[in-house]
Amino acid sequence: MTEMIKAEAERQAPCAGLRIGDVAPDFSARSTTGDVRLSDYRGRWLILFSHPADFTPVCTTEFVALAQSASEFEQRDCALMALSVDSLFSHFAWLRLIRDRYDIEVRFPIVEDPTLVIGRAYGMVAPNDSDSATVRTTFFIDATGVIRAMTCYPANVGRSTPEMLRTLDALQAVDDGPVLAPANWAPGEALLAQPDASLDTVFSAKGQTDWFMKETKRGSRK
Ligand code: BEZ
Repeated sequence: MTEMIKAEAERQAPCAGLRIGDVAPDFSARSTTGDVRLSDYRGRWLILFSHPADFTPVCTTEFVALAQSASEFEQRDCALMALSVDSLFSHFAWLRLIRDRYDIEVRFPIVEDPTLVIGRAYGMVAPNDSDSATVRTTFFIDATGVIRAMTCYPANVGRSTPEMLRTLDALQAVDDGPVLAPANWAPGEALLAQPDASLDTVFSAKGQTDWFMKETKRGSRK
């Protein structure tokens, strides 16, 4: 990629710096649950996500929804870690407001990143924006510290907790064997077999699609 194309790609897609398969960059930082280090999460799954700002409407709905589903993530041995440019004391004040107003305690860590050093390493900051807010990036990091999926939403659209759980379920299900998760797959539904890339299989298959489209075992129901 030439430097110009690379710069344009990064301008258009803030998540573009890191890719699926990369080791998630390590960092340590202050958070609402004390100091955290990303590499301390090795051995379990981690969803690291950024939000534009504390005390904003969409972000508040996301945190309420995630806190309400905390046990669902726990069941899947997946920790949550949030991050924004706001200060630790802003995070504390916002969590207190969420507890008082919505009767739910956000117990997963929210990292403060006022210098944007983490946000920039993860491509969480939209380079074109006039402010330094992070966009809604979500990194699904496996137990070995590898980024397995990532999403990027704008500030004005909130993420779906059921879709985050479904993505996690699909990632964990495909780790159990050489299987694929089809569109809209949910736990309990059939997975697909990895196609066998041999011409003999293609010519000996009964139906036209049988050589590449084969259902296999079901992912366990959560
Ligand atoms: C929100 O979370 O509601 C929000 C955050 C930043 C800009 C616009 C909306």
